[in-house]
Amino acid sequence: MAGGFGIQSGGGVPKDYPGKVTTYVLVTCIAAAMGGLIFGYDIGISGGVTSMPPFLKRFFPNVYRKEALDKSTNQYCKFDSFTLTMFTSSLYLAALVASFGASKVTRSLGRRWSMLLGGTIFLCGAIINAAAQNIAMLIIGRILLGVGVGFAIQSVPLYVSEMAPYKHRGSLNVLFQLSITVGILCANVVNYFTQKMANGEGWRVSLGGAAVPALIIGISAFLLPNTPNSILEKGNPTKAREMLRRVRGVSDREVEAEFNDIVEASEASKAVKDPWSNLGKRKYRPHLIMSVLIPMFQQLTGINVVMFYAPVLFITIGFGNNASLMSSLITGGVNMAATFISVYGTDKWGRRPLFFWGGGLMLIFQVAVASLIGWKFGVTGQVDNLPDWYAIVVVICICIFVSGFAFSWGPLGWLVPSEIFPLEIRSAAQSIVVCVNMFFTFLIAQIFLTMLCHMKFGLFIFFAFFVALMTAFIYFFVPETKNIPIEEMSQVWEKHWYWKKYVVVDGPPSPEKV
Ligand code: BGC
Repeated sequence: MAGGFGIQSGGGVPKDYPGKVTTYVLVTCIAAAMGGLIFGYDIGISGGVTSMPPFLKRFFPNVYRKEALDKSTNQYCKFDSFTLTMFTSSLYLAALVASFGASKVTRSLGRRWSMLLGGTIFLCGAIINAAAQNIAMLIIGRILLGVGVGFAIQSVPLYVSEMAPYKHRGSLNVLFQLSITVGILCANVVNYFTQKMANGEGWRVSLGGAAVPALIIGISAFLLPNTPNSILEKGNPTKAREMLRRVRGVSDREVEAEFNDIVEASEASKAVKDPWSNLGKRKYRPHLIMSVLIPMFQQLTGINVVMFYAPVLFITIGFGNNASLMSSLITGGVNMAATFISVYGTDKWGRRPLFFWGGGLMLIFQVAVASLIGWKFGVTGQVDNLPDWYAIVVVICICIFVSGFAFSWGPLGWLVPSEIFPLEIRSAAQSIVVCVNMFFTFLIAQIFLTMLCHMKFGLFIFFAFFVALMTAFIYFFVPETKNIPIEEMSQVWEKHWYWKKYVVVDGPPSPEKV
């Protein structure tokens, strides 16, 4: 079906393309997922660094004084400082802007070059940060890191979705999320050790450590082949077909059907001169809405409150520096471990059940955290003595909340958008996903400490409200995409009770569609 909206098989029955998880595809996807590492390392590193006294003393002396010396300060407001949060959040603002440029590079040069470019810029940012002498150097370094992250997360999920055989696309794509969580955990471990460095310069090692994932992504991007879709977009069908055959590990004849569909999608894509204005068309309404709401909701779970500010949060509830970094190490470990549930389950149980279970867990334990903090800190934020068990119970509740996110909105917030867009709008729509995600990540990084200061324990109720809302949204509006070939995805919208009125353009859907 030319004309732009994906490819339909006759009668609307999903096709079955042969294809195995070849060593080739596995290695490619693992290497590509390394892109998540650089993203994760940044998420995890800033919270720990901003809780290190030597770092605060040097760059944010006001916060240091308030935190370390003024014992009477309201606990909720200890860390409320614009420049401090700017240090964390500037990265995401840069990533937001960069992802637009990245979409052009991805479309014209291919997913692979985007990753390589991202890794290189990221490396420069890591070096500047490690050598920082003043706040300006810190922020410039963070901005370069952000540009690198923008490139990597624009290209990696698309790369993996195109390389993976559709039956395993979910699990392989979740590797991206897994590598984000590995990056976060590595950052937690690094912070735990560097804060103990006697010369007080451990934060330099923490920030400079970002060079390691940058090198890994740079090298792996260098070794990666371009996706068949990308090769075809650049006008080389013979090479594209050969690549598809190698990636799928099947014979020339067996790869025929899938290749033809990719060619058709690619032609439709070429006919589209401006994917951005194309996105405004009625038939892309579900895609457009998903590309905005899914990343927005992912951030409104409040996960980054924990990822960015767990050490600060734990100090707030009475932990010492060491114990608080230890606790964020524990939440980082839980985050990574629980992601395996989705590696196993996305293609087996489907996306929707994971969204429901994860949403339920997050909701319950966010309310629990709000109640625990409200109970002891009240609205004044003054607290005298906290029993030992108290902080432990709070950490356990936070861990369960994190695990709920780690097998649902964490991976699926990237996976679902990357698999629902037809090729002709894929790069542009993925840019929207990245931008919206980065915008809300920025917003939460920037205003969380101020929100905590004003909304107090109610902040966790605020996020719980959004978790309830997004779970209802999934129930009514997000179709199951498990086991559907990416070029066949148009069918899920045509069958959907609400979206069908937007996407069915050539007459009524075929009879078996509900
Ligand atoms: C989100 C990040 C989050 C991370 C936690 C990712 O999917 O995009 O914002 O920090 O998961 O594991």
